[in-house]
Amino acid sequence: MKESLLSSKKETIILKTPDEIEKMRRSNLIVAEILESLKGLVKPGVTTGFLDKFCEREAIKRGAKPAFKGYRGYPYSLCASLNDEVVHSMPSEKRCLKEGDILSLDFGVFYDGFYGDAAITLPVGGVDDRAIRIIDVTREALYKGIEMAVSGNRLFDISAVIQGFVEDNGYSVIRDFVGHGIGRDLHELPQIPNFGKAGMGVRLKNGMVLAIEPMVAEGGYDVRILDDGWTAVTADGSLSAHFEHTVAVTNGSPYILSNLQGV
Ligand code: MF3
Ligand code: CO
Repeated sequence: MKESLLSSKKETIILKTPDEIEKMRRSNLIVAEILESLKGLVKPGVTTGFLDKFCEREAIKRGAKPAFKGYRGYPYSLCASLNDEVVHSMPSEKRCLKEGDILSLDFGVFYDGFYGDAAITLPVGGVDDRAIRIIDVTREALYKGIEMAVSGNRLFDISAVIQGFVEDNGYSVIRDFVGHGIGRDLHELPQIPNFGKAGMGVRLKNGMVLAIEPMVAEGGYDVRILDDGWTAVTADGSLSAHFEHTVAVTNGSPYILSNLQGV
């Protein structure tokens, strides 16, 4: 989400009960299943508009509502960001995937009172080693961040570990977009930057649910928004990748609500 767009009316971090977390598991499992199906559909020749329609249909089939459609006027169910596009690129029937592209797919639903939100970046057909590497580093950065989502840690322990891993690999973390709390609203407190100092920020508590979402660029972290008002691209035109999971903080291991396996 855009940092400046977070305008949750609630001023505190809303803790979820175990029952609410199980409801959120259901919303996020719908997201996970649909993203899993997308893996089989992404190939050269397919349009991003087709993927959007697929997601919308699959959500409705399961009794869920696509979360992004209508959110602040966003007109689609899916964000489908190619290559130098970081996030929030609008799907189009005119946009055909090509061999060698990388495609970030961000999808969310609302189901039984709660939101689910997750993102993956996929190679289209055969891609070069550069593309594979940024995808792998971004996914691993997300999992390293998730490992820090344990009660007693500080919020920026997540941020710091993501930033450290990404920068050690020669990439930058995007600054203009952040992860977020999630629950009955798509965007709740806290904001979760992908950069920061370990040991800082609020103390994590059992019952917090966090959408952690590193966005990584091969070059610099500056982004530019295209004239459509949504698409964020890297200012230097470098490649970008994005992964996101919705995670519940527990006293033990983080519960990855948007993982098919839930661990
Ligand atoms: N995962 C993105 C976010 O958390 C999705 C928002 S796209 C929008 O901000 F279109 F709904 F804004
Ligand atoms: Co999100």
